[in-house]
Amino acid sequence: MDSQFTIRPTTLADAEILCDLGPRTYIASHGPFITSKDELNNYLRQNYALDVVRGELSNPSLHFFIAFAASGRPVGFLKLRPCALPVPQMQPDSQEIQRLYIDDQMQGKGIGKALMHSAYTLLRDRDIHHVYIGVYEGNAKAIAFYTKLGGILCGQHTFYVGNTGYINPIYQITF
Ligand SMILES: CC(C)(COP(=O)(O)OP(=O)(O)OC[C@H]1O[C@@H](n2cnc3c(N)ncnc32)[C@H](O)[C@@H]1OP(=O)(O)O)[C@@H](O)C(=O)NCCC(=O)NCCS
Repeated sequence: MDSQFTIRPTTLADAEILCDLGPRTYIASHGPFITSKDELNNYLRQNYALDVVRGELSNPSLHFFIAFAASGRPVGFLKLRPCALPVPQMQPDSQEIQRLYIDDQMQGKGIGKALMHSAYTLLRDRDIHHVYIGVYEGNAKAIAFYTKLGGILCGQHTFYVGNTGYINPIYQITF
């Protein structure tokens, strides 16, 4: 792994970190795509309330990894959950990379790929060898990243922020 960062699974004590990192990185990456700032703010308030995040960190079905810069600053995270995407003929144990966000200034250093590999390692131990990811159709950078990692387009769904729907192609990565 690149010595400029480290990655570890989360504990309940990481809730405040995710409540800061999650909204910040979502606004930076998706803010320009979201048409209503009220819907964006409500979405972030609902998903990153401290009790919501604590509940998720306590949920044994969910797995988070956080990346830290050499300084100790949290700079990215990944959230894995049982797949909730509408994938045809999905196997029952399928998992989804629901969130993967790296701070703007730390992108392009291998952190996203390393977080993905942390998820692969966890899943391989359970004999799971593929994941699904839904990504906004206008997010060319993330689509290029997942394609580089071997992602194959396998469907699409509409992701809602408030009442506004955004088309998200779904990718499958086999590892
Ligand atoms: C998409 C994202 C997670 C990628 O993480 P990253 O740390 O910047 O990517 P990495 O440095 O690990 O790159 C891994 C590989 O993908 C390639 N890659 C990354 N971004 C790329 C791009 N825009 N175009 C082409 N290739 C790209 C890299 O060249 C690298 O290839 P290599 O393994 O041959 O060296 C990151 O840019 C990000 O957080 N974006 C904003 C949030 C977001 O959109 N998340 C996805 C939501 S679904």
